[in-house]
Parts: sequence; C-alpha cells; structure tokens
Amino acid sequence: MKKVLIVSTSPRLNSNSEALAKAFAEGAREAGNEVELISLRGRTVNFCRGCLVCQEKGRCVIRDDADEICRKALHADVLVFATPIYYYEMSGQLKTLLDRLNPLYPCDYAFRDVYLLTAAAEDEAHVPQRAVSGLEGWIECFERARLAGTVFMGGVTAAGENPAHPALEQAAALGKTV
Ligand SMILES: Cc1cc2nc3c(=O)[nH]c(=O)nc-3n(C[C@H](O)[C@H](O)[C@H](O)COP(=O)(O)O)c2cc1C
Repeated sequence: MKKVLIVSTSPRLNSNSEALAKAFAEGAREAGNEVELISLRGRTVNFCRGCLVCQEKGRCVIRDDADEICRKALHADVLVFATPIYYYEMSGQLKTLLDRLNPLYPCDYAFRDVYLLTAAAEDEAHVPQRAVSGLEGWIECFERARLAGTVFMGGVTAAGENPAHPALEQAAALGKTV
C-alpha cells in the first residue's frame, strides 16, 4: 500500500482536470492504496518569496495552505498534480505550488513517482507538452523521483463537458498501477 497525494489545481467547480484527479484517485484506492485528494480551490497558496529560509529551517516563513500540503507531500510515496492547460503551460496555481514545495528540497522526501494530469480545449498531442516539461524540471531537482506517467484530456473547454471522455478511464487505469 502506498500513500498517494493528489493535488488538483483548477479553480473551477466541476473541473475537467479535477475529474481526471478523481478518476486517478478511484483507481488508486481500488488497488488498495491510501489516497488523499486536495483541491486548491478555496485554499490560499501565496508566491514563494525566494528568501530560502526553508533550506535552513525546513519550513516556509509564509503561513498559508502550502505549509500543510508540503508536509503531506513529504510523507507521500506518490505525488499527482492535476492542472488545466493555460497558454500551453501548467496553471499559475500549480507553478506557485511547486515553488512553495521548496522546503522539500533538502529533506528525506518519500515520493518516488510523480504523475501529471492535464485538461485543455485543444486536442493536439503537443498541447500539454510544456506543462509536462515544466514539471520535469521540478522533478529533476528531486533526484530520487521520476515522472511516472501523464494523462491528457483534450478537446474540453466548458467544465464537466465530457463525462465519458476516454482520458478518464486512462486516469483510473493509471491510478490502479501506482
Ligand atoms: C487563462 C486560460 C488559458 C487557456 N489556455 C489554453 C491553451 O493554451 N490551450 C488550450 O487548449 N486550452 C486553453 N484554455 C482552456 C482550458 O485549458 C480548458 O477550459 C480546460 O478544460 C480547463 O480545465 P479545468 O476544467 O480543469 O479548469 C485556457 C483557459 C484559460 C482560462
């Protein structure tokens, strides 16, 4: 059994990328893992101030919701990030969170496998590429971790537009393999 932490970063209700996150969670739970899904909706994650105090103290100086997510991420075996594609990139919310996970950098973090779930209006395979590449940059800084898988839900603009999208099954199947 693994501890799986899933963070959904879309601010929308009935979000497409969050639907992927829920499908992944369902698959991972079915396979017997301990799964927690956190949405950033209604949570406050401020920008990293770049002070680097976290590298000495192991904790950020900012007291907001990133603090709790960071502690959970430290002990998770698997991290999953779900994001809408904004201008061919990950959402600003996800980038801000990744920066705020900087206290993990010098720590004995447990995670090894990292997954990315994305949703976008366009359906071409290249649409999520920069978001994948951005997350790979973050993962590169965590030497014991790797990008273990991605799922892209393309062709969805409105929230909850396609509840039968094949990417949902892909996400559930991937969740089962963690
Ligand atoms: C600011 C903004 C930028 C966007 N940029 C893109 C884009 O570059 N390519 C694309 O295909 N869709 C783009 N979209 C559409 C969203 O990716 C799409 O609506 C997606 O389903 C949102 O996922 P969510 O429901 O999880 O928030 C953009 C939407 C917003 C609000």
